[in-house]
Formats: sequence, structure tokens, C-alpha cells
Amino acid sequence: MKAVLSALALVAACLVVPAGPAAASDNGLSIRPAMGWSSWSFIRRWPDENKMKAQADALVSSGLAAKGYVYVNLDDFYQKCDANGFAVDSYGRWAVDTAKFPSGIKALADYVHAKGLKFGFYVTPGIAKNAVTANTPIEGTSYRARDIADTTQTHKNYNCKNMYRLKFSHPGTQAFINSWANQMASWGVDYLKIDGVDATTIADVEAWDRALRQTGRPINFALSNNLPIAQATTWRRLANSWRTQGDIECYCGSGPNGSGYPLTDWAHVVSRFNSAASWQPYAGPGGWNDYDSLQIGNGDQVGLTADQRRSHMTHWAMIASPLLLGTDLTALTSVDLAILRNDRLIAVNQDGVAAQRIVNSGVNQVWRKRESNGDYIVALYNTGTSGNSTVSVTWSQAGFTGPAAVTNLWSGASEGTVASSYSATLRPGETRLIRARPLAVQRYEAEDATISQGAAESNHAGFSGAGFVNYVNVTGSYVEFTVTSAAAGNATLTLRYSNGTTANRPMTITANGTTLTRDFNGTGSWATWADSTFTVPLAAGANTVRATATTANGGPNVDYVDVSSP
Ligand code: GCU
Ligand code: CA
Repeated sequence: MKAVLSALALVAACLVVPAGPAAASDNGLSIRPAMGWSSWSFIRRWPDENKMKAQADALVSSGLAAKGYVYVNLDDFYQKCDANGFAVDSYGRWAVDTAKFPSGIKALADYVHAKGLKFGFYVTPGIAKNAVTANTPIEGTSYRARDIADTTQTHKNYNCKNMYRLKFSHPGTQAFINSWANQMASWGVDYLKIDGVDATTIADVEAWDRALRQTGRPINFALSNNLPIAQATTWRRLANSWRTQGDIECYCGSGPNGSGYPLTDWAHVVSRFNSAASWQPYAGPGGWNDYDSLQIGNGDQVGLTADQRRSHMTHWAMIASPLLLGTDLTALTSVDLAILRNDRLIAVNQDGVAAQRIVNSGVNQVWRKRESNGDYIVALYNTGTSGNSTVSVTWSQAGFTGPAAVTNLWSGASEGTVASSYSATLRPGETRLIRARPLAVQRYEAEDATISQGAAESNHAGFSGAGFVNYVNVTGSYVEFTVTSAAAGNATLTLRYSNGTTANRPMTITANGTTLTRDFNGTGSWATWADSTFTVPLAAGANTVRATATTANGGPNVDYVDVSSP
């Protein structure tokens, strides 16, 4: 039976413990998910250098930068367009809108760097129509834009459009992309988002990856958006993150094109839970599933309640998503700052492990991951929008057996030792995030303990070790165990016993001055063993635990005590 059980346990372990993800980009970057801010959600189509500087200032003054939120990413709409698409510079690269950025991108990046932050930038695949019309030279070569553009096909582009595809068989194509990457590197770009990527633009992504590497500058390479999962291993090989879905923004704000508050809604957040379950195997050091910006910072007006915002943060931490804020950092609320600066949540994100979903039942979801130190992180969610829900999980679903010391990661409070399952009644949109540290279980056989008025015997089957203790049937007979604990703290003791009579045989359990009284009722026969579990405080080192009969019948027969200690 034991062999069957352990075989089943092995199968269960194989089901929950993932194989490591496929090889990541070897550019050496983003060993942990990137943290910072992006202009898209709040600034939207109207970035300029003053707004960008104000957000960089706020990233530092809010204390967020000190917590690791260091990227200041300029997204779309820094470029200048005319009726034919993007305006271009003398080498055919997008021209920056000087009305928005009169000091230029390098000056902005310098400003960001001077604050100890990193600067992110934005591009989409292809070459602008205006470059082809002007037949601009390709820097450092004798080629020109018309040599490398395939004018029969355009790319996806969300802004000025008119981006032609490139001929990757032509040597001028890589030179063109290199020249663009070199310009970015010379400006001080630390992060590049290439948007409009899909299964038809793998050659563009490969060329940009090569281009960024040949600059010699470390540039975190991010792909966007709604990437097909069928090519997941390709994205992982080429880049440091990839957007798994369309935008998290609801485009339901009161401003032009749905800009402004609200930035998002709960449906856009929770839809990513399903996506995260599918993409989980592809995340790991050097390459992350990007579930889009974190819409936390400006209170309820972002479109999420405080409970929903904590769930949003919890989930992005669980699934090891980049933590790129989309909100207005110049108007942070104290509630949201407490969410964003919670060191325990940040540590769950930066452990670099993407959680798996283990419960998905109506509005209830439970996710789990195992950190490298052996701790399990478990998140329980009520994803519904009305009504409380009780969400439950067993430790075997989470991936281990035996008791665990539980810490609430939002509050930091210890919840003590939890034997085998955990449940929480949650408000709509609420979450519970816990750390479960499996406790070491040490068995102490009664026949090896100090026996006062009793004897080691073996004439009833089913015992562990060499036998059990038969108490002399008198008040005061006892078994005394010497129990060692690595650390001080509450320990869970499980005493195994049998009682072939129908009369209760109560005993007191004493440990370090604590005394408990427990009933030991009939188990049906002397060969039928049962567990009695109780919690006692243990000191670090050796402890004396004594089980003493309190009636003239003596104690039950005692097999062992299992001690789960911190
Ligand atoms: C029987 C039984 C013992 C037990 C004793 C008792 O003798 O075999 O194992 O300890 O009853 O009632 O205590
Ligand atoms: Ca006895």
C-alpha cells in the first residue's frame, strides 16, 4: 500500500512540477521580470518631454524606484507623421516629433539616467513609406531604402501606418535595422518594445535582436502584442518578454480615443488569468510572459476597486509578469502606494517563478508556485463581481504533503501551522496570498522513549517501528519523548494510539510548561490505530513532551508521536 501511495505521489509531483522552460534569449538581460512604468495607459497619445520627466521624478519621489521600479518607457506617439505615414530622418528612421521632444530623446534619456532610472523606447517592424519615397540612404552602406523595401506589403502599425515590409534576403536590411538600433543605443535606450509583432514578423524580430546585440549596449528586448502561443519558444529564444494578449486598457475613458480614466476594468484584468494558465510553461529567467501594464496608483478611478487592485498586483506577482505601471505617478494614492511598495509581493514577483493554476471553478481560482528555497506560494481568488465566495485548496493540490507554517503575504502576519488544507472566504474581487513553508516531520517511537509504568510490546498489529507502549493501567503512568526543534515556535504533534475498549482513556500532554488534556476514545480494537493532533510550543533544541494517563484505566496503547516543527 505504501509503495502504491508513493508511486501516486510521484505521479502527482510530475504533474505539478513543470519542466524548466525552453532556452531563453542569451542576451543576459531581464533575469527577473522588468519593473517600472510605461507611458501608454495614462499619457496615451500625448507624450512629451515634460510629462515624461514628471513621471520619472515621481517614480523616485514616491519611493517606487527604490523598490526596483526603474524603467521609464516611452511608448507610441513620440514620432511625427504626415499624410504618408511616419516622417523620417536622413537615414530613413522614424523622426521624433520635435514639438513634443524639443530637447531630443538623448536629453530625455540622460535626465532619466541621472535619476538612477532606465529609459525605454518603442518601434514597430518594417520601413516607413516616406523613406522609400525619398529613397533615403542606409547609413554606412551604398544601399538605399528602395533596395530593401517590399512595397507590395505593409505591416501592422497602430499610429501613422504606412510601414512597408523588409526584404530579409537583402544585406541592406540588417544594416538599416542596425543603424536604427545604433541610434537608439547612442541616445541611451535601455529597453526596446517592438509592437505589431505576430507570426509573420519573426524575421523582423530576429533582425532587431541581432541589431540590438551588435550595439554592445544592454537593451532589454520586449515584444508586443497578442503574440501567438504557437511560436512561444521562438519569442522566448529571441526576446526578454512578450505580450500574451491585446491591451489591458479598456479604451472606455472619457478622453479622445477612450483615453483617460478609467484606464481599464476588471474584465480586462481577469481575462489574463486564462491566458496565464496557458503561457505558464514559457516564463523563466531571461524571458517573461508580459500580461501588460499594472493599472494601480490612482485609486478607484483606474476602473478597479481596492480589492481588485490587490488581486491585480497579486496575480502579476504570482505569474512573474513584468511590473510596468500604466498609471499617473504624479497622483499616487496612499492605498495604492502601500500595494505597490509591499516588499513581500515584489519578492513573489521577483522570485522568477510563474505560478500554475490548480483550481478553476466558477469564480474561484487557486494558483501555486514553488520557490527555490522549497516554500510554496499560494494565491486564492474570488474573481466574481458579486457575493462572497469560500475558496479552498489542499496542500497536495499545491504540491506537497504534511503540515506547513503559513504566512499571510499581504499583512506579513503568521497564521501558524496549517495541517493539510487552507480556505478563505473572500469578497468579490478579493484575494488571499500566502506562503506555505512545509514543516519537517520527525517521528519519535514510543517504545524508544522514557516509559514510566508501562512496557514496550508488539502483540497488536499495525504499529510503526519495533512496537508500541502498553501503559500500566494506573493514573500517572506516562511516556516521555525528547523532541528536538530547529527553531522556537509552535509545533504540530500527532500522537498515534489504539484503544481496544469502549472507555475513554484521557491523558495530559505537557510540553515546556504547557499542559493540554486530550481524550483517547475507543478505536474499535487494539490493532486499530488513530491519530490525535495538537499544537504545542517548542523551544529551539531539546524539549520534553510527556503523555500521562489521568484515570485508573491508564493510557491507550501509544505507537509514536510525529513532530512537525519550524
Ligand atoms: C489488553 C491489551 C493491551 C492493553 C490492555 C489495556 O491487555 O492487549 O495492549 O494495553 O488491554 O487495557 O490497557
Ligand atoms: Ca495498558
